[in-house]
Amino acid sequence: MNELKDRHILISGVSRGLGLQTTKALLQEGAIVVGILRKSNDQIEALQKEYGRQLMLLYVDLEEIQKIGNEVKDFLHENNIKLHGFVSNAAIGSDALATDITEAHLIKLVNVNQIAPILLTKQVIRNMILHNIGGSIVHITSVAAQTGYSGLSSYAATKGAMEAFSRSCAREWGRKGIRSNTIAAGFMETDMTSEMTEENKQKVYGRNALKKATELDSVIATIIFLLKDQSSSITGKSIGVDAGAM
Ligand SMILES: NC(=O)c1ccc[n+]([C@@H]2O[C@H](COP(=O)([O-])OP(=O)(O)OC[C@H]3O[C@@H](n4cnc5c(N)ncnc54)[C@H](OP(=O)(O)O)[C@@H]3O)[C@@H](O)[C@H]2O)c1
Repeated sequence: MNELKDRHILISGVSRGLGLQTTKALLQEGAIVVGILRKSNDQIEALQKEYGRQLMLLYVDLEEIQKIGNEVKDFLHENNIKLHGFVSNAAIGSDALATDITEAHLIKLVNVNQIAPILLTKQVIRNMILHNIGGSIVHITSVAAQTGYSGLSSYAATKGAMEAFSRSCAREWGRKGIRSNTIAAGFMETDMTSEMTEENKQKVYGRNALKKATELDSVIATIIFLLKDQSSSITGKSIGVDAGAM
């Protein structure tokens, strides 16, 4: 039996990268995907054509932190959505030494990577409690939060904050059957890393045991595992899917 079939899963950042590929995998699993995005594109339109009402789109700009709470709450209520899972995926990168980061970029980084996921999680947990669903929350964090990378200090700070948030959420809501875990992903070949030179990529890959990029499929399979009841005894953890970064 396909256990995610007809279950509502909320996921942020479905327009491209890991979020888009995870959305496709969840749709194939039969889940009803509630995808957060800013703007549609050809890939999203094609998925809408193929899957119809199995893909519900919620247009929110995660920089606009004042609007997130009400927009998400109203959408979930109006569409009678009972969430079984949440994949907090949307984020922005940053490539600046601690001495160079601008105040404007830092504020944007913290809003999108930290405040928005916390506000989304708040609505997700409230929805799960309201419907008495012991759901699963998966935050996509980064190997950078655990091992440190030059140029990623501020980005890593936002990801480390989400690891801390997730662990305490697991403690707060475990009694209601709600689980919260993070996947600390290694460097993946997506738009986020597309501006790195080949030389820098090889340096990064050279630091991990498998000497290669992290495969999207490996991260997606871990997300799906954490959403399913197979992982029912796992909460408050960070799972590294990173080609062996140490
Ligand atoms: N790529 C890597 O090497 C790597 C490594 C470790 C962890 N991660 C993490 O993995 C996750 C996915 O990253 P990715 O590589 O797939 O990145 P990506 O290709 O750059 O995609 C980022 C996604 O986040 C969305 N997003 C960004 N700002 C937003 C906003 N203000 N409002 C709504 N959506 C917004 C983007 O939407 P738009 O199309 O509207 O911009 C896009 O869908 C992130 O949490 C990232 O930090 C990535």
